[in-house]
Amino acid sequence: MQLQKKSTMSFKQEIERRRTFAIVSHPDAGKTTLTEKLLLFGGAIHVAGAVKSNKIKKTATSDFMEIERQRGISVATSVMGFEYNGYKVNILDTPGHQDFQEDTFRTLTAVDSVIIVIDAAKGVEPQTEKLMGVCRMRKTPVIIFINKMDRPADDTFGLLEDIEKQLQISTRPLSWPISSGPGFKGVYNIFESSLQLFNPNIQEIDPAIKFNNLADPELETFIGKSDAATLRDDIELIQGVYPEFDVNEYLAGDLAPVFFGSALYNFGVQELLDAFVRIAPFPRPQKAQEREVSPYEEKLTGFVFKIHANIDPNHRSRIAFLKICSGTFERNKVYKHARSGKTFRISSPTAFMASKREVIDEAYPGDIVGLPDTGNFIIGDTLTEGEDLHYKGLPSFSPEMFRYIENADPMKFKQLEKGVDQLMDEGVAQLFTSQLNNRKIIGCVGQLQFEVIQYRLEHEYGAKCRFEPIQMYKACWIEADDQAIIEEFKKRKYQRMAKDKQNRDVFMADSQFILEMAQQDFKDIRFHFTSEF
Ligand code: G4P
Repeated sequence: MQLQKKSTMSFKQEIERRRTFAIVSHPDAGKTTLTEKLLLFGGAIHVAGAVKSNKIKKTATSDFMEIERQRGISVATSVMGFEYNGYKVNILDTPGHQDFQEDTFRTLTAVDSVIIVIDAAKGVEPQTEKLMGVCRMRKTPVIIFINKMDRPADDTFGLLEDIEKQLQISTRPLSWPISSGPGFKGVYNIFESSLQLFNPNIQEIDPAIKFNNLADPELETFIGKSDAATLRDDIELIQGVYPEFDVNEYLAGDLAPVFFGSALYNFGVQELLDAFVRIAPFPRPQKAQEREVSPYEEKLTGFVFKIHANIDPNHRSRIAFLKICSGTFERNKVYKHARSGKTFRISSPTAFMASKREVIDEAYPGDIVGLPDTGNFIIGDTLTEGEDLHYKGLPSFSPEMFRYIENADPMKFKQLEKGVDQLMDEGVAQLFTSQLNNRKIIGCVGQLQFEVIQYRLEHEYGAKCRFEPIQMYKACWIEADDQAIIEEFKKRKYQRMAKDKQNRDVFMADSQFILEMAQQDFKDIRFHFTSEF
């Protein structure tokens, strides 16, 4: 590990040059390929294929050796930081596999903006919709990259219309594709009035050709008569239909600028990166339960959004990932863990620079710091310089699959309890305790999570578990202005009531019908499908 030098820039400059974001997509749209190309531009990696190995192959759903191997690698690629044109770019990696989407949702709470990748031929896919839903909820600014233009794609106007409808966000193309598939000629950069020609045999970027006047007949020498005519018509239409691009609408989360390209051929990627660093937000004020915290505040605050546990099974090593929200993080300074009130001195905090981890002396708002941990942190914890501050809990979504978890080895009861406890703190799945019979219920998004839990309990804690089926549709967190109504509800529905890990009341509806009946009978109760409301 290397030691990073102290910065000579001002605190304000350090904050404002940071761009912390995530790339998200439906599996296979090209997230990994795009990430890799961005890292190449940032000089963070030098060969293609370096990120690829971080992917859990979608077919190998039961290949645990693979999962274990991935867990090792994915610590290094959890956060990929690099310098680009004076900006400090931090890409937060999100799992591609949809069974781990809860991880993705949590990571989205630690980013200041998002790039959504859409496959030009497939358009909006289910996972894209869900991810956009989370961005909308948090008003996260979103840029859309329409990928795979080298393959035959849908009509561009139609595609944008679908995106607006399905993702419920206004769009504004900042570049425009000239045909697609084998006839793909390149993109016209509307923002800069320049033409970028596509050549599948060359992955180097040719200098763009300036076209301040599209009527210039020279356009035809580059893209041919028919494509030139279409481009002129398209651009005229765009300028008639779409209002001027307003960066503030993007920053407010109301408008998504759209770029086109082909990540595989490294086409349109640098334009995306250049526009991204220019318009994407630097760290914004963050809401805590007590107050809103500005990144410019001198005192450090931050929250843990992810924990990587037992990377090396021989040592109980964990890394807690802290997103810095304000102040300067300094090595060896004493910080307060707001949940327990304890103080900590962190002697070897790490930063993540793509493929290597390095011990750092300081870090700034927007940065992610890895804190070596022996079990003190759980997801959502806040670190401060003494203030009793609690960043708003990270949302848990109602799981989609539920199972009772039972001990399969009576001699290992304690190990099982500890293992389940720690895995839940790490955010692997959600745990509910039935109020009727005290049985523990595990809630997951996908089948693969159950398998991971069983495997890790056995290999890391020496405990054996068994899952038993349970008829369950949704977990809803309940709330009402009048506590007496909640008590009445709990009495009437005690068979279906459970507590979550934070001891909150959860109504476990076994079918949509039961849920609708409960909603009808108790109109004063608000039923929430996420734990943050
Ligand atoms: P993901 O992380 O979103 O799941 O997608 P990933 O980047 O792994 O890309 C999925 C597949 O799409 C890969 O092919 C990748 O090479 C291909 N791909 C990505 N961008 C483009 C593009 O711009 N054009 C074309 N034509 N293909 C693209 P694969 O065959 O599944 O994997 P591999 O064997 O090539 O690694």
